[in-house]
Amino acid sequence: MPSLELRNDVYRRPLALALARLGFGPGWVSVDVGAGAGDVAVELARLSGPAGRVYAVDSSPLARDETARAAARAGEAQVVALTQRAEELALPEQVDLAFCRFLLLHVEEPLAVLRQMAAVVRPGGFVVAEEPITTAGRVDGRPLSMPAARHQDVGALLPALFCQAGLELVDAWAEAPAGAGPGPVASYLAELTEVDPGDDPIVLPPLVTVIARAPSAATGS
Ligand SMILES: C[S@@+](CC[C@H](N)C(=O)[O-])C[C@H]1O[C@@H](n2cnc3c(N)ncnc32)[C@H](O)[C@@H]1O
Repeated sequence: MPSLELRNDVYRRPLALALARLGFGPGWVSVDVGAGAGDVAVELARLSGPAGRVYAVDSSPLARDETARAAARAGEAQVVALTQRAEELALPEQVDLAFCRFLLLHVEEPLAVLRQMAAVVRPGGFVVAEEPITTAGRVDGRPLSMPAARHQDVGALLPALFCQAGLELVDAWAEAPAGAGPGPVASYLAELTEVDPGDDPIVLPPLVTVIARAPSAATGS
């Protein structure tokens, strides 16, 4: 399992871009679904400030504990870490943003999870997912694969899945960190595959980001 810190390092830019596009900021209430060790949740809490709130949801109780520790270390008391399945989200309030990253490739039914995320967002609120197209990654020209993931290329289907979930697309794009030789990209790949890529040229799996809105109450759809 690659360290989350490293994942944050190499895939930080699409996250920052997505949050900037939303105008995410003070007072926002959000949920990070499949929060893992809580890196994204802590970043959301930092940006939404003391008036905001972040629910960090993961099916693993270990993730809840790790997130709680990460939030305490960062002094972000407004992170609420919960053990829940993404398929059965139950939050105490509607949120402005439901976010997930590297989650849908692991769940049984990505569309069912997107529908759950749409259901916890207030009318007109945002749903954002960042998911990979694993086999579009390359090491020395050869495709990558992640046989343990249920849907390793779910990123390629993401815009269509959002539409099927009844969400209105705002923006969608793909971005892939690339490199050759020592550096964060090679280190990430080495942790992921347990094989040192040496000086081989690397293109990590493109991360597809989709930003969408839940229908506003006025449209009634
Ligand atoms: C690859 S990690 C991604 C962590 C984090 N989102 C990130 O981008 O660094 C996937 C996380 O999703 C969680 N997960 C997998 N299936 C889940 C489900 N059905 N419901 C909730 N969480 C789930 C796992 O426990 C794990 O913490």
